[in-house]
Amino acid sequence: MTQDELKQAVAQAAIHYVVEGEIVGVGTGSTANFFIDELAKIKHKIKAAVASSEETAARLRAHGITVLDLNQVTSMAVYIDGADEITPQGAMIKGGGAALTREKIVASVADQFICIADGSKLVDVLGKFPLPVEVIPMAQTVVIRQLNAIGGDARLRLKDGVPLLTDNGNVIVDVHGLQITDPVALEAKINNIVGVVTVGLFAQHGANVCLLGTAEGVKTLKF
Ligand code: 5RP
Repeated sequence: MTQDELKQAVAQAAIHYVVEGEIVGVGTGSTANFFIDELAKIKHKIKAAVASSEETAARLRAHGITVLDLNQVTSMAVYIDGADEITPQGAMIKGGGAALTREKIVASVADQFICIADGSKLVDVLGKFPLPVEVIPMAQTVVIRQLNAIGGDARLRLKDGVPLLTDNGNVIVDVHGLQITDPVALEAKINNIVGVVTVGLFAQHGANVCLLGTAEGVKTLKF
């Protein structure tokens, strides 16, 4: 199976976690896009969706799915999203698509985080994928210095030669070369750096379930 076929398989499996008549939180990225396309097939069964990025909101709306502002929502049964890396304990690196802050905010409202990922994302130790950190632009230099001081190689993310800006108007710093043996502690430490908006470690509140696409079928990991 190709990587896209694995992503599609987990997206289809995730539909079983959507609660009828409820609001669904929807992530960002290529796997989330497959999920949105599956969600469209049962859109009459859900109340609405909350999007974790402008890109996801546009794709949901294009399918005729109502998108609510998170401020209109008090509860959400599930948040469904991909990951860049996930451990057997359910800790994740996210933010490859630069949507980490809104992803973490929407996920914080949901009862359950359902991670959908192809098998290549499962790792014993997080950090081979550069850790994304969303940063207030005026703080980028000072934050990069502090991230280098904790042992990483922090680099400003560029797009077409200029700093990539998030949906929130901030920049992304990617920290290369980390071996994250204590993701809960590192999440707290980086979040505590002045100028950091969000670190793309989802460990204090990791996934509750991971639907992992493998050649042998979709495996369900529960944490
Ligand atoms: C976006 C994310 C994505 O969930 C993550 O990058 C995985 O993306 P993909 O499904 O395309 O592999 O965190 O900010």
